Amino acid sequence: MAEVFYITTPIYYPNDDPHLGSAYSTVYCDTLARYHRAAGDESYFLTGTDEHGQKVAEAAAAEGLDPQAFTDRMAARFRRNWEELDLTPHRFIRTTDPDHVRAVRHFWQIIHDRGQIEFRDYTGLYCVGCETFMTERELEDGRCIQHPKRPLEERSESNYFFVMSDHFKWWIGELEAHPERIQPDRYRNEVLSVLRDGLIGDLCISRPRARLEWGIPAPFDEDFVIYVWCDALINYLTGIGYPDDPAWERRWGGVHHLLGKDILKSHGIFWPTMLHAAGIPLFNALHVHGHWMIGGQKISKSVGQLIDALAVKDKYGFEPLRYYLLREMSFGLDGEFTERALVRRLNADLANDLGNLLSRTLSMLERYFDGRVPEPPVPEPDVASELCRVAERVARELDLQIRGFSSQRALAALWELVSAVNKYIDREAPWQIAKQEAQRGKLASVLYESLEALRVASELLAPFLPKTSERMLEQLGSPPRPTPLATAIRWGQLPPGTQTRRAESLFPRVELD
Ligand code: ME8
Ligand code: MG
Repeated sequence: MAEVFYITTPIYYPNDDPHLGSAYSTVYCDTLARYHRAAGDESYFLTGTDEHGQKVAEAAAAEGLDPQAFTDRMAARFRRNWEELDLTPHRFIRTTDPDHVRAVRHFWQIIHDRGQIEFRDYTGLYCVGCETFMTERELEDGRCIQHPKRPLEERSESNYFFVMSDHFKWWIGELEAHPERIQPDRYRNEVLSVLRDGLIGDLCISRPRARLEWGIPAPFDEDFVIYVWCDALINYLTGIGYPDDPAWERRWGGVHHLLGKDILKSHGIFWPTMLHAAGIPLFNALHVHGHWMIGGQKISKSVGQLIDALAVKDKYGFEPLRYYLLREMSFGLDGEFTERALVRRLNADLANDLGNLLSRTLSMLERYFDGRVPEPPVPEPDVASELCRVAERVARELDLQIRGFSSQRALAALWELVSAVNKYIDREAPWQIAKQEAQRGKLASVLYESLEALRVASELLAPFLPKTSERMLEQLGSPPRPTPLATAIRWGQLPPGTQTRRAESLFPRVELD
């Protein structure tokens, strides 16, 4: 049976439109899901919108809409945005979907039945931006570090609590035994230090309906709604059929969560303890990325410094932006977004290394072979050709890196193949060989090798830049690809005699003023 790979993005608050930050997480997951799908795994990819809670209710009120009408409109915009960018989740989930509401109530009923919920009085400082009560460590001058412009609200009310602290000992032990559960290391260490230093206690999981209507009613007391994080996290289960479809458990075995470091507390502490309390197996790993910044400030909705991914797309095309996001950022660290760096990548890697390589190879083919794929070289027994060996090594490295969640290193590996073909052509100099009629066979073999390497590179590129890959394969006249990927990249499949179709350059160079 195929292996399951199940990847999730955070589900975004639809209080505003998608922006570069949410596009980044979604593109990253789309790429991982496409790779695993191509590799023959059973691949699931979930994204969606997190619609309950005070923040969204306030955004709706500000527009004079009731929350349901507001989130209907905003969720549709998110969905359309991702569709236009060719991001392909297996499901777009909304926390107002009826099956999710059922899943949340089912989940919390179980925890209630297991004696893990207590009714208590509580006073605390609430950040609406984060939708969480603050711990001391998250404050600076009495304000939330992430939302310094928004004053904290002091809350004093009776609520239901999940005895989360009962599970800390187990979770610390689990993290020590399986450090890969939170990656990169720095984020695991952050979680461990919060737990070890006793900086967090039990989790308030309800809000009185009298104060906040907009939520899922608690199954054990209809006068309360479930706290928005305790509703949202469960989307990861709903999205693969929990609890009704028995297939959910098998799919859950392949789960990986991708998220930004801003929501480490909820994913690194609330979520594993909730799962443990409900008797559900832990996720395989949290993969935590840093933030895209502009001028040292996090790109976000609330800061109002919204970089619209679609706007950048209109200027340069979406795939150059996609390439920049996947190639430029070191996973886990913050990255400064600059148009200059994007254009540099576009010109150097895409227009020059890749685009020029394709067009010069195809134009030589036109000149010397009427654009038809020539005969491959007669293989020496048991010796793979030079470019074949590079392609095989690169495919292995790329596989390793993408399975390790590094799109940056996976793309760097792929560009080793691109640059090997460029060097091969420079060294073999087909334009010199072409001057001697007796060297016709040699000329054919140099061009065949280059074309075949380009075909393999296009196949490997598909999860990262799906449209570009298609355009390349079309120009190469490559027949419909066999699956899985391992079969598609087997050397020597471009049929001699194939008519290639050189088209306009893949990526026109851009001049920055
Ligand atoms: O936190 N750089 O939703 P949210 C990189 N609803 N990624 C960024 C980013 C940036 N500048 N800004 C946002 C929520 N992101 C909750 C999640 S999950 C059960 C509930 C991405 O709309 C990044 O993935 O605030 C971050 O974690 C997420 O958007 C936060 O989205
Ligand atoms: Mg946020």
